[in-house]
Amino acid sequence: MFTKKVIPLHVLARWSIKTAGYVTKAPKPEIPNNSLASVYSANEQKINGIVYDKKPFKVKLEAGKNYLWCLCGRSKSQPLCDGTHRDIYLKITQRPIRFKVEQTKEYWLCNCKQTKNRPFCDGTHKQPEIQTASTIRV
Ligand code: FES
Repeated sequence: MFTKKVIPLHVLARWSIKTAGYVTKAPKPEIPNNSLASVYSANEQKINGIVYDKKPFKVKLEAGKNYLWCLCGRSKSQPLCDGTHRDIYLKITQRPIRFKVEQTKEYWLCNCKQTKNRPFCDGTHKQPEIQTASTIRV
């Protein structure tokens, strides 16, 4: 005997979206790499700085130019270093990360100071421990 199979509407909708070739998620943005990461030992520092902000900062950077990204989180010209880490009274152990980019364009630089791809944002700031952390941003 023939039995009629009922397909739930949400399964049917998912199937029709897949077969129609629609993309339901935006492609992940390409995360650039620091070409100077292997050149300077500062990139091997294990301890990250304090959370400055809970979201990245978009900055236009020029190709071939050297930049210093603040790792300690205390610079007043975030996300770049202003030399605050040299203040002996603050006893900051982190050094800034020297980097340069391949193309002149806008980049998302990490402002939570916890990225695993210094100095570029890799999405680490979305983790609950970062989102609930206290920041020093005024
Ligand atoms: S701001 Fe630090 S990983 Fe995104």
